[in-house]
Amino acid sequence: MHKQRIKFDFLVHDLKVPLAVIEAGVTALIQKPEKYGPLTDRQLKVLRRILRNTMITRSLVNDALELGRSSEGIINRTTFRLSEFVKRTLVEVFDLTDHEVAEKVRGCASLVELRSALSPKKVLLHMDEGLWGGQVCMDENKLRQIARNLLSNALKYRKQQVDVRIAREDGSLTLTVKDDGEGIPADFHKKIFECYFQMDMHENHCVRGHGLGLAGVMVLVEDMGGELILESDVGRGATFSVILPE
Ligand SMILES: Nc1ncnc2c1ncn2[C@@H]1O[C@H](COP(=O)(O)OP(=O)(O)OP(=O)(O)O)[C@@H](O)[C@H]1O
Ligand SMILES: [Mg+2]
Repeated sequence: MHKQRIKFDFLVHDLKVPLAVIEAGVTALIQKPEKYGPLTDRQLKVLRRILRNTMITRSLVNDALELGRSSEGIINRTTFRLSEFVKRTLVEVFDLTDHEVAEKVRGCASLVELRSALSPKKVLLHMDEGLWGGQVCMDENKLRQIARNLLSNALKYRKQQVDVRIAREDGSLTLTVKDDGEGIPADFHKKIFECYFQMDMHENHCVRGHGLGLAGVMVLVEDMGGELILESDVGRGATFSVILPE
């Protein structure tokens, strides 16, 4: 194995211990108020959010290490509800930027409730009730990584609104994320999928990226046997569509 690769895997590997310490500590605070003292509802909410995100990080670290084991992508298919997938993805995205919306999304019991929780954020969700209540058999973690990265980009680059569409036809699931931002010139349609490439190095976004999200999305889409279509032009927003066979 290439030395650089071993160093990388080793770094990821060593994230496991501090993560386990964080997870154990937060779990103890939540579960043992008699030992650590009582918590207010607001403190509990924050700790639950920390725990949730620590667990997501643990699962990402495990996936990263699994990936090192084989050069092929590993696909773990499970059957899951699309409503749960949509909510989990949105909670992960908003936990960082607006945790009140994340909490609301987590508590939504229907598509109607979810749409109204998202409306202050100007995120429009288009999917039909049948699909919301339905199940699919796919690699949910990978699907969530794809959706989370596309959605975070759209939220970062939009002017006002983001449209998310989920549809199912001819044995495929299509996820479309559309924003109304500055768009991507045709010359860059290939380049933005390369590692570390960013079009706007000098722009001042509140969360700086690494130019890795779309490269990762493309690899996962390929591993899942799917296809990614980008439609965009200067001043006309960007639409990323991912079509994945079930
Ligand atoms: N929806 C979009 N609208 C306009 N430009 C975009 C959009 N999505 C991606 N880009 C451009 O493509 C580049 C690469 O995107 P990518 O998601 O790979 O990296 P990033 O968002 O900058 O950082 P990271 O995802 O690693 O945090 C971005 O820096 C940006 O210039
Ligand atoms: Mg990104």
